Formats: sequence, structure tokens, C-alpha cells
Amino acid sequence: MRKRFLENHPELPQIIEKGTATIIEEVDSLMNIIGEFSRFARLPETKLEPGDLNLKISNCTDFFNAHENVHFHLSLDENLPSMMFDKTLIRQVMINLFQNAIDSMGGAGNIWIKTSFDREKMLVRISIKDDGAGIREEDLPKIFDPTFSSKEHGTGLGLAIVEKIVFEHKGRIRCNSRPHQGAEFIIELPVLVKEDSDGKVSCGLN
Ligand SMILES: Nc1ncnc2c1ncn2[C@@H]1O[C@H](COP(=O)(O)OP(=O)(O)O)[C@@H](O)[C@H]1O
Ligand SMILES: [Mg+2]
Repeated sequence: MRKRFLENHPELPQIIEKGTATIIEEVDSLMNIIGEFSRFARLPETKLEPGDLNLKISNCTDFFNAHENVHFHLSLDENLPSMMFDKTLIRQVMINLFQNAIDSMGGAGNIWIKTSFDREKMLVRISIKDDGAGIREEDLPKIFDPTFSSKEHGTGLGLAIVEKIVFEHKGRIRCNSRPHQGAEFIIELPVLVKEDSDGKVSCGLN
């Protein structure tokens, strides 16, 4: 019966193969969306603790050690003050930004990371720059939208999560980019200080 059936429908195995491949692909993409969405919708509560931001940032590059053709260039300001930040969430910020940079360069290229301390404004500036494909002018205003992705299997949530975490730290993020000239993300984090008396956290910006 199977033989007769296949004789009448010779194209069937191919259809099944194509169909199941599509299903697998779609499931992968859905799993991605669900994973990122649940992280976005309910990020863990921000736990601010004093720490060494330079060290945190440089540790995050280890996550991408397997990408042999991606070169990280670190220029970390030694005079950065000890900061209050959430170690897990800041790690997520770095990973999302590094992953986007790597996506934009097709697996090979450079990522420059720079930290600096703006003593006057009492904030720390982190710049993450790549030499990837860059961003079209018309896309720039949309990149932080949780629905915007230019990738076939992108979720669009990566930068929305990044922005939300930066806001949780009372910081700001912006992007400078031109097509074919890479992208630079600049994060400004106020130097949050823990007040001694009641343990409340305040910052230099408000
Ligand atoms: N470093 C970058 N270089 C070029 N384009 C970028 C970069 N970072 C983000 N983008 C653009 O912003 C979009 C949104 O990024 P993101 O929110 O992380 O979602 P996703 O990575 O799932 O597409 C990307 O699809 C891409 O078009
Ligand atoms: Mg992303």
C-alpha cells in the first residue's frame, strides 16, 4: 500500500521533508521569541550592588571566545569609580549588544569597547562600536522597538531589553550608525551611590 501510495505521489517525501524542515525552523524561531519575550516582559528585579564595571564588561567578552574571527579591543578607564549596578542585567546588556555587533559583521570583524568617567556629570560612559554593516537611516528610530528586527529569525527584543535595563539603572542609551560604517552604542550610567543612613540608592542625575 505504501509503495502504491508513493508511486502515485512521488513528490511526497520531498514535501514532507520541506514541511518538517519549515516546522523545525519555525519552532526554533518561536522558542527564541518566547525566551526573549518572557525575559523582556518580566525581567528579574534590579539588584544594585557595588562592583567593578570594567571587570564585568571584560568578563562578558569571554562569552564570545568561540568566535575566532571577532576581535574585541578594550580601552577601559582605570579611574572608573566603584559603581552600583545589577551584575546579571548588565551582563545581559553587553551580551545583547555584542551579539548584534557580531550578527552585523557576518562572523568576522572588530568590536571596540571604551569606558570613561565624566566627573562633571557624575556618569560613566560605555561605548560599544563595531565595523559591521551599520544601520539604515530610516531604521535608526525603530531599533529599540520590541517589534523591530531586520533579521530573518530576529525577535527584535534584544535592544528593547537593553534599553529597559539601562533605564532601570537611571541611564540613557543612544546609537550612532551609518550603512557600511558600523554602529556605535553609547550608554551613560549615572554613578549610583548608596546612601548610608536608610540604605536608599540615589544618583548624580536626579
Ligand atoms: N550593531 C548593530 N549593527 C547593525 N544593526 C544593528 C546593530 N544592533 C542592532 N541592529 C539593528 O537593530 C535591530 C534590532 O536589534 P535587536 O533588538 O537586538 O533584535 P534582533 O537582534 O532580534 O533583530 C536588528 O535587527 C538590526 O537591524
Ligand atoms: Mg539582537
